[in-house]
Amino acid sequence: MAYYQIAPVLCVLVQSELYMHLYLNQVASGSNPDPNQLVIVGPSGGFGTTAVNDWSITIQPGADNPPVAKGQGLHMNLARPKTKWYMSFNIEFQDARFAGSTLNVMGIFPENGEWSIIGGTGAFTMAHGIIKHTIIQSSREKRVFELKIHAFYTNMTSSQLISYKQKRTPNN
Ligand SMILES: *[C@@H]1O[C@H](CO)[C@@H](O)[C@H](O)[C@H]1NC(C)=O
Repeated sequence: MAYYQIAPVLCVLVQSELYMHLYLNQVASGSNPDPNQLVIVGPSGGFGTTAVNDWSITIQPGADNPPVAKGQGLHMNLARPKTKWYMSFNIEFQDARFAGSTLNVMGIFPENGEWSIIGGTGAFTMAHGIIKHTIIQSSREKRVFELKIHAFYTNMTSSQLISYKQKRTPNN
């Protein structure tokens, strides 16, 4: 007997499918004048080192471009003897179209691979999906990740219950 079973579930909840092509710019402290991350625990860089990040996310690669979103969260070295960085952060959009909406992301970096989208708010309520990330530039404690975002979300604005919601929530 396998230790798992999987079966399809018929689901009538309408989902929207989202693709985005963006770049995440990581600028470590050290020689960089304007870092967008900071070690807050364990400055040795070893096991347990934890840093806070406010990475910029742009349409064109490079931290000098205006951010369309920020990648705000934490990353932590949780493996030994090799380093392995676990991170969990919010992608919070700042552009006119999706301002204030978030995608909630977790995974391992910097190795090329996939991160999970485990939630979302605003336009991207109940998002789930993946972000394929590939390092395309790396020098002097700076990295640029190409992000291929692929998610499904539920658009609450187009909910069938919108008239019920309006009746039940005064001031909304
Ligand atoms: C959600 O649905 C509304 C109404 O159909 C639409 O105007 C809006 O653009 C949709 N938003 C997203 C992020 O899909």
